[in-house]
Amino acid sequence: MTPHHDRSPWEPEDRGMNPSDNESFVTVLQRATLRRRSFLKGGSSLIAASMVGMGLAVLGDTLKPDKIAARAATPEGLDLNFSPVAKTLTDQVTVPAGYTVNVLMATGDPLTNRVAPYKNDGTDTDFEFRSGDHHDGMHFFSLNPRNVNRGILCVNHEVCEDLGFVHANGPTDYGADNTNARPMAEIDKEVNAHGVSIVEVVKQGNSYAINKGSRYNRRVTAATPCDLTGPVRGHQKMVTSYSPQGVATRGTVNNCANGYTPWGTYLTCEENWWGYFARREGADVRPAQEEYALQRYGIKGDTSGRYNWARLGANDTTDVYARWNTAKTSDRPDRDFSNVANTFGWIVEIDPLEPDSRPQKRTAMGRFFHEGCWPAPAQAGRPVVFYSGDDARNEYVYKFVSAQMWSDRDQEGGLEAGAKYLNQGTLYAAKFNADGSGEWLPLTLDNPAIATYTNYTFADPADVLINSRIAADAVGATKMDRPEWGGVHPVNGEVYFTLTNSVSSSSGRGTKTPLDPANPRFYRDEKGDATNAGNVNGHIIRWREAGNDHAATAFTWDVYLFGAQADAGDEVNLSGLSAENDFSSPDGLWFSDAAPGLLWIQTDDSAYTDQSNCMMLAAIPGQVGDGGMKAIANKAVPANGGADQTVTTYAGQAANPTTLRRFLVGPKDCEITGITETPDGTAIFVNIQHPGENSTSATNPAEFTSHWPDGGSARPRSATIVITRNDGGRIAR
Ligand code: FEO
Ligand code: CA
Ligand code: CA
Ligand code: CA
Repeated sequence: MTPHHDRSPWEPEDRGMNPSDNESFVTVLQRATLRRRSFLKGGSSLIAASMVGMGLAVLGDTLKPDKIAARAATPEGLDLNFSPVAKTLTDQVTVPAGYTVNVLMATGDPLTNRVAPYKNDGTDTDFEFRSGDHHDGMHFFSLNPRNVNRGILCVNHEVCEDLGFVHANGPTDYGADNTNARPMAEIDKEVNAHGVSIVEVVKQGNSYAINKGSRYNRRVTAATPCDLTGPVRGHQKMVTSYSPQGVATRGTVNNCANGYTPWGTYLTCEENWWGYFARREGADVRPAQEEYALQRYGIKGDTSGRYNWARLGANDTTDVYARWNTAKTSDRPDRDFSNVANTFGWIVEIDPLEPDSRPQKRTAMGRFFHEGCWPAPAQAGRPVVFYSGDDARNEYVYKFVSAQMWSDRDQEGGLEAGAKYLNQGTLYAAKFNADGSGEWLPLTLDNPAIATYTNYTFADPADVLINSRIAADAVGATKMDRPEWGGVHPVNGEVYFTLTNSVSSSSGRGTKTPLDPANPRFYRDEKGDATNAGNVNGHIIRWREAGNDHAATAFTWDVYLFGAQADAGDEVNLSGLSAENDFSSPDGLWFSDAAPGLLWIQTDDSAYTDQSNCMMLAAIPGQVGDGGMKAIANKAVPANGGADQTVTTYAGQAANPTTLRRFLVGPKDCEITGITETPDGTAIFVNIQHPGENSTSATNPAEFTSHWPDGGSARPRSATIVITRNDGGRIAR
């Protein structure tokens, strides 16, 4: 195999960088009416769903979910109506009988008639006109509210396959310390394989296809000019030689999960952006405060970046490549790219209906490893609220509450509405208390915990946003087991978040960070391997905002579901999973709009992969407090001096195949991530990311662990698939 950089240290989604020491009050639930607004331009799925059984008021010093009376929560008439798919290790997408899978758009597929079909042998060029790689979060925007035959699909492309399937002979050897020069053409291809695809899709028979002639089709890549907007725009810490005024940057990277707005735009989220920047030891000495901030975001002084994009060669003077070097090379920030990493880590707003518009980085929403960004239903006269998680070990859950109150008149507002609602507001970090209550802690400079924080001195309000993680440290937010996707239950308004896992030899949950009721698990993996201990299978947490007001600063939480293999002991299989629904490492999570109350759960697992490839399950969850207290017996917890430690938490009701069952299993060594649907719910779009990820060669088919989707000896490719029912009916019900 062609030598390249050492893959083993690169586990970007599994880093822990939080050195802080972080670890109640009255919650009032009031009767409230929640109106679910359409997030689709044109308002085709406008549904006013009244709250189910939300009439209970609980007053007192301490609120515990188990004291909330159980209420009927299953949305009326919603049943899972398909045969559960069995776990499998086959190299294909398996769905229930009566369903069909079509590949819509795989890595390299042309988005225009101007480029040739993808050969998939590494010689293809012009990625700026092709589908990017590593498909992730996505959303379907209806073009005509009464007609599901046309829509625009926005699809994130998180990374370019590290193994180098897009190159004829794999990537050039990065060198043992990632310092070898790399050919420009290779870097260009990788840069263009990142970002977002925006494509028009049209109904074709019982499925969908890309309209390659559409004026909407375009790519946003790691080279696309983006505006910096909001409070950080023009800040001295955003100044680069590309933008001496600190108002722009080039590119968006590691576009993981996504969001969408009540005004018809797409949100793409920058997750592991930190790993793209070169910063070699000895070349870059910073003031202590700056160094602290760089380290807190994982940018140490010993890296050439994931792809070595800055290392074009000794004589490189092209800032297109040098911009990936965030080391200080000048005494003036407008003459180097020492601040460039500050221009990444944001939520980026894109208008799918305006092909000439520039992506807008929305700095008021904070800077961290944004997995995604999920809207609460917009209510007239109330703030617009978005939930977001920082996916790294021991990081936080956040929410953004707009300063402006929502007006239905902005439903067609595009980026202008984006500027109105997303450029001013308050960012909060979540604290999950041991008594089942929770609080949202404001990350503002007038919060004394932030103003007087001793580890870092915030220069001004913008600095609090640039260094949101440090601000969340300062206020004592709860360190979580890697927050991935979130979503708001469209019927009862509760918020769900996957905590995918926290596994590590040195700094995971239960080792460096004590266990707590919201992150209550520590165990050895199924092989008994002490170096892979922690919360191996992950869980899904959920909460109800006080008064069902998404702008509230208090909430009540429980754990909806614990991942586990069905044959694990009771101390591990805490939700009573069975063969029809056992899973590990939940990651993607999305509530259907077409079937309010239907929840999709997708996995990105490396623990249970001896029995099944990654999967997607359909669920009809209940609500906070529908289970009871659960005592979890953890064995030999390092943070407890190596002694056993029982953690009591609030668990949702046990799973059963009626309300949770497996719908799909993906091909080998993939992750299932990203899901959206047509407004009528008769087609869902799902992303298959990195099939064959554990291949050991980019060129020798015998060393590929998957050949999906092309089969034969083909190089594996990520892809968006369309799933429809053969009878044209609604998916999963
Ligand atoms: Fe890109 Fe945390 O998944
Ligand atoms: Ca993810
Ligand atoms: Ca993941
Ligand atoms: Ca993955």
